[in-house]
Amino acid sequence: MENIQKIVDWYKQIGFCGWLRFRTLWFAHWFIQNSGLAEQWSFILKYLPYQEKYILDIGTTGSLFIYELDHRKYRTLGIDLLLYQEELPDSISVITGNLLDSYYTPETFDYITMISVLQFLGKEDQKAIIEVYRLLKPNGIFLLTVPQDKYNFLELKELTQGYFEILEYQPCRGHLGMAFIKRS
Ligand SMILES: C[S@@+](CC[C@H](N)C(=O)[O-])C[C@H]1O[C@@H](n2cnc3c(N)ncnc32)[C@H](O)[C@@H]1O
Repeated sequence: MENIQKIVDWYKQIGFCGWLRFRTLWFAHWFIQNSGLAEQWSFILKYLPYQEKYILDIGTTGSLFIYELDHRKYRTLGIDLLLYQEELPDSISVITGNLLDSYYTPETFDYITMISVLQFLGKEDQKAIIEVYRLLKPNGIFLLTVPQDKYNFLELKELTQGYFEILEYQPCRGHLGMAFIKRS
């Protein structure tokens, strides 16, 4: 939890002030501590030491996770169907759109994170996995969390078979955290 406190303190320092901003941060702090998101973030951040690599966060809106990626020196791009609701520093880019229509150049990203998003793709979940595979560089890392009442380990294994090798999986308070490496 100490780690998460550091992240929240850092958000407070980055300087978007005002009551609304404070309220968002206060809510984020409360939510992170109480929702199990702390465990998901901790699982994912283990794979993301400070380094200048290119990362895509899918399903960015409503989360402060991209600030942490920026803080860790990643070249950071977020994508979400919904508009990102806060002002962002110039170093972070966010695109409003569908992952499945992203048309990015293949093998662009070193890392892709997808925190609690796959369950919204419904029957297109396999398409999303294939798109992540296409966008990752060879040996790129894919970091995923999903609610355990929507997917179990075997379903995810089957969904990613042929595209990714599983590095690790871990239950994170109601979610399943999985780390994959792209198969070449
Ligand atoms: C539960 S929220 C994600 C939470 C966030 N990643 C976090 O760390 O707290 C799910 C997000 O996925 C986005 N989403 C769902 N389907 C998507 C798609 N096909 N392409 C891009 N974003 C999508 C939704 O708009 C929503 O903002």
